Amino acid sequence: MEKLQQLYEGKAKKVFATDDPNIVIVDYKDDATAFNGLKKGTIVGKGVINNKMTNFMMQKLEEAGVPTHFVKQLSDRETAVKKVSIVPLEVIVRNISAGSFSKRYGVEEGIVFDAPTIEFSYKNDDLGDPLLNDYHAVALKLATWEEINLIKDYTFRVNDFLKSYMKGIHIDLVDFKLEFGKTSDGKIVLADEISPDTCRLWDEKTHEKLDKDRFRRDMGNVEDAYQEIMRRLMGE
Ligand code: TMP
Repeated sequence: MEKLQQLYEGKAKKVFATDDPNIVIVDYKDDATAFNGLKKGTIVGKGVINNKMTNFMMQKLEEAGVPTHFVKQLSDRETAVKKVSIVPLEVIVRNISAGSFSKRYGVEEGIVFDAPTIEFSYKNDDLGDPLLNDYHAVALKLATWEEINLIKDYTFRVNDFLKSYMKGIHIDLVDFKLEFGKTSDGKIVLADEISPDTCRLWDEKTHEKLDKDRFRRDMGNVEDAYQEIMRRLMGE
């Protein structure tokens, strides 16, 4: 497979065309941003970790019945994925209160919910990714009801899998964000990434944060946290 021209550069990844019109190559960067790009920095080694962790999880999720965009890892930072049009929704699941949930509703972090919550943001940097509900998403024609129901079903399946997998490596899955895409034949598949950039991961005993909150909140030891996740997941 040949890597051709760059199609897109996002905050954390670049996307390249290939000689196959249905396949693109994702190239993970070490660049980190927060607060809609206001805070910028570098997390050395993050691109490699996020690439490997995402591919590891996507392969497991395929086995668990969630279709994904994953095709093949090409190198430490590069992966071939199905070309999709991204559904402009950030799908967020929470098992434990933290982040914008705690801020918005005025509650402490660390409250364990009886059941997971789901919410959507409109993926639109100019508007600052505003929160919206499923009726809003349908009204804005971001997705159909059928697609939203499928996305919710897949998302809870991801939560069930990811939460129990993380528990096995002594990590509490606090919350995470997913994105879905539509393939050229109209199929909804899990896209984007599953990594310490897009999940909150706390050590089950010490509650130490092992995710991007260390960067967002200037807590230090950011690289160590990403490495620790990688070590527990893949022994690397
Ligand atoms: P939040 O508490 O800031 O809404 O974040 C919820 C989860 O979503 C958390 O695991 C971090 C992830 N997330 C992203 O992946 N990208 C984003 O742009 C934001 C705001 C959050």
